[in-house]
Amino acid sequence: MMNCKIPFNQLYIHSSGKVYPCSFLQNNADFVLGDIQTQKLSEIWNSPLANQLREAHRQSPPKRCLENIANFNCCNIGQRPYFVDINATQPVIRRLDIMLDSACNLTCNMCTNIYDETGGLKSEFFWENNQDVFSSINELELVGGEPLISPHFKRLVKLVAPINANLDWRITTNGHFKISNELLNHFSQINLRILTISVDSLNKSTFELIRKRSHFNTVYENVFELSKSITKININMVIQQINRHEVLQIYEWCLKNGFGFYPILLLYPSNHSISQLSPELQSEWIRSIITYNNIALSKEIFFLIKKSISSLTIKHDKELLIYYYDHLKSMEQVLV
Ligand SMILES: C[S@@+](CC[C@H](N)C(=O)[O-])C[C@H]1O[C@@H](n2cnc3c(N)ncnc32)[C@H](O)[C@@H]1O
Repeated sequence: MMNCKIPFNQLYIHSSGKVYPCSFLQNNADFVLGDIQTQKLSEIWNSPLANQLREAHRQSPPKRCLENIANFNCCNIGQRPYFVDINATQPVIRRLDIMLDSACNLTCNMCTNIYDETGGLKSEFFWENNQDVFSSINELELVGGEPLISPHFKRLVKLVAPINANLDWRITTNGHFKISNELLNHFSQINLRILTISVDSLNKSTFELIRKRSHFNTVYENVFELSKSITKININMVIQQINRHEVLQIYEWCLKNGFGFYPILLLYPSNHSISQLSPELQSEWIRSIITYNNIALSKEIFFLIKKSISSLTIKHDKELLIYYYDHLKSMEQVLV
């Protein structure tokens, strides 16, 4: 049976202040567990609503979660070694995922959250009442908006660094800012396990078309500058129509420079998605990626192919499905 450990280990705080079990359920009224502006995190975690959700998950995840698991493999994060099992009797919060702010310095063509409700983290109640949770969690993930230009980032470092030295921090950023000594000083105070930087293209004009208001060179240079002081850099690439032919180039660039590669297939909003191309163009694109990966045998590219096969409209292309099946067999040795 499919199960998800996330409700037994994590809370997600949206920029509005509303708390959900995970980011894939944000803005869904059926999954609001509480609000940081009036409730402590521990209170939300132990609320009847959170307990009911955990009990439901013990039977089978709700329909919405099952859809998300099928579409996004979102429960994969539940593989963290410190996550407890769904049968744990009194689970405690191990991980917080926080959307600090929806404000951003860029307006990317595919971004769905820049107009989200924000301001929840301005609440003094939140900052004054959650030391117990911040001192005991194992992992803290920050997203936005742009987390590294948010004043809440500095405040979080000041609050959490002195009380939880072992905490793993993970941050996703657009890398579009001036790297100040103050920012480097903040990084030096925390255990920044992974900094994920969004690089959707290595072509200046494509990059700037996707990431509106950006300067490609600023991000490109910052990736290398930040990699001098941060051990693990991952690169997120959201794959849409205009950058679809760059997947392999960006993968090789990551390999060459020691960055992790995280390709994400854009599905929503659909207007820029590969799913809007003709079935022939979709098949041609996937086929070219499979051909490459028959030799490269990259797990990340394999998962992208798998996702594309299940999400794009190529279900009637029998030859492609056979080609994919053969690829799957060659990947078996890598995936075990
Ligand atoms: C919303 S952004 C926030 C962090 C930061 N501002 C950035 O650009 O990386 C987090 C990640 O989501 C990705 N993203 C943006 N729009 C997306 C969409 N429609 N589907 C999937 N991922 C998306 C971004 O490229 C980025 O890697």
